[in-house]
Amino acid sequence: MDEFAARATVRWRAIDPLLPGAFPAEGPDLADDCGAGLTVGQGENLAAFGTCRHSQPDPGEIDLSWGMARRFELAPRVVGPDAGAALDRLISLWRDHLASTPGSRDDDSAAIITWPSRDIDGVVTLQNHGLRPLAVVAIRPSARASARVGARASARVGARAGARAGAWPAGEAPGPDTRIRRAGNADAETIAAFGAEVARFDAHFSGTPSRPGTVAALRHEATRLLAARPGAEADPAARPWTWLAERDGQPIGVIATQRPDRAAWIAPMTRLAPVAYTVLGYVSPQERSAGVGAALADCLHAEVDQAGVAATLLHYEQLNPYAAPFWSRQGYRPLWTMWEARPAWSLR
Ligand SMILES: CC(C)(COP(=O)(O)OP(=O)(O)OC[C@H]1O[C@@H](n2cnc3c(N)ncnc32)[C@H](O)[C@@H]1OP(=O)(O)O)[C@@H](O)C(=O)NCCC(=O)NCCS
Repeated sequence: MDEFAARATVRWRAIDPLLPGAFPAEGPDLADDCGAGLTVGQGENLAAFGTCRHSQPDPGEIDLSWGMARRFELAPRVVGPDAGAALDRLISLWRDHLASTPGSRDDDSAAIITWPSRDIDGVVTLQNHGLRPLAVVAIRPSARASARVGARASARVGARAGARAGAWPAGEAPGPDTRIRRAGNADAETIAAFGAEVARFDAHFSGTPSRPGTVAALRHEATRLLAARPGAEADPAARPWTWLAERDGQPIGVIATQRPDRAAWIAPMTRLAPVAYTVLGYVSPQERSAGVGAALADCLHAEVDQAGVAATLLHYEQLNPYAAPFWSRQGYRPLWTMWEARPAWSLR
């Protein structure tokens, strides 16, 4: 099994060097309350291995606002030469496993496979099994992005100057009546309200039901993001990585990011370390396409790069027409794609 896991890892690392350095065959994070191990082939002919995990986020968890209530996740590991065929047989075994699993007939459920975005050999297979590419985990490697910033920032200023009067340099507020400031403890409610807007917006693309606990969970998350850290008074690098945009004193946008110590949960998704994770990016509808989102992202990236963070990660909905183009311009690109069959029983 170790040799198989090594081959699967080498294959994925050749496809995308930003993927993790090692993929344990058992997927230790995925062995929770099911842990069924599914195999395609044996011994030297082992072509695919997958571990199944069943989970149900608590009603108070923020995660519930962006996904289904009952989750069945497969962590697949495949090797060539025909990785698509190996994955196909693995998913068929998993479908049969789920058919006799309690809860998989619930409507508020999903069968989920998180697959490397650049592993194109699996895409048709995933589709053929009724899985849809709902969300993306995108990555912005700091070193590469900041190397491009100088050239891009001046190009951006030039382009904006041509596109409309009142252009602004990267990192500055996009207009005289607009200001960007770091958020503080008193802003938790505003951030939670913006977060609830993002959840409502994203539901257009994912179909995730509205959850009664969303605002409370977001308030809790915002309070943690804004909590004072030792040395924050004297050291700007210890202040929260959360900024608000305001027009005439009214909040119009936010970017809110977990520092590496809070982002450890997503760190295993990439080889780069340490990582930060952006929980929220939002600009009010009437304020969009005026550079507010880019100015907020510039504030974040300046500090992230300075702090020695190797990469920033975030999720966006694949079908959100605002998200992918925007984050791509800020230096992000897809790393993992989350394929889901909703409900779980629709897995073919
Ligand atoms: C994604 C989002 C935060 C972007 O915020 P924004 O303030 O509209 O972002 P910007 O104005 O900086 O950039 C948006 C576009 O305006 C353009 N733009 C910005 N300033 C401009 C200017 N002065 N002149 C002309 N165009 C300009 C940008 O080039 C960009 O164009 P593109 O979409 O073709 O790439 C916002 O659309 C949003 O809140 N969407 C809904 C929620 C959401 O999707 N959140 C992200 C989920 S992960």
